[in-house]
Amino acid sequence: MQPIVAPSLLSANFGHLDSDIEMINNSAADWLHIDVMDGVFVPNISFGFPVLEAVRKKSTKPLDVHLMIENPQNYIERFRDAGASVLTLHYEAVDHLHSAVTHIRSLGMKAGVSLNPHTPVLLLEEILPWLDLVLLMTVNPGFGGQKFIESSYLKIRKLKALIIETGSAALIEVDGGVDLQNASSLVRAGVNVLVAGSAVFGSPDPAEAITTLKNCDTRLA
Ligand code: DX5
Ligand code: ZN
Repeated sequence: MQPIVAPSLLSANFGHLDSDIEMINNSAADWLHIDVMDGVFVPNISFGFPVLEAVRKKSTKPLDVHLMIENPQNYIERFRDAGASVLTLHYEAVDHLHSAVTHIRSLGMKAGVSLNPHTPVLLLEEILPWLDLVLLMTVNPGFGGQKFIESSYLKIRKLKALIIETGSAALIEVDGGVDLQNASSLVRAGVNVLVAGSAVFGSPDPAEAITTLKNCDTRLA
């Protein structure tokens, strides 16, 4: 099955966001991945509502918003108003996850939960039936261009088994260090959504890199 491909705006050229978004609009990308960082949950600060609203006006792709912030439950409606189609919170940042997830869904968005590399997938067992997506961080969150953590394959397989066991319809998204080399192995392990920042925007032909990621399943053994 072809994966959903979500280029990460974090690696775009912020001096020419218009043309980078235009490239994504005209590409095989399915979603546009948006990383919001607060400098508290992660040691980096990216951008907030004004940028997101400007991106929403230009993008024809659904916005896949990944919140790396403390207290994300306080901003759910504002992210809906700013144009999020998928809203993903970190397990490590929310005490009342069921409440936050059902709130996201009640506002018409897909609800995702993200796990840092050290957080076990088993912790999601009870919440999985309410999730549209699980985002596995395959690097430590905060920065683009890091090296993929190889032990993530085992985590993907464990999550896939848990999704089947709980009868959940959640998609598995991976974020961090995804590239043209590992994409097909990730899809084979059970991944449905590939986020890629530097593998797309660091490529001499970003649209072609997106197409290659999209077709990576045809390279499966
Ligand atoms: C990292 C972000 C990622 C980042 C991925 O914390 O969540 O979305 O943009 O960048 P690459 O694909 O370069 O690892
Ligand atoms: Zn992300």
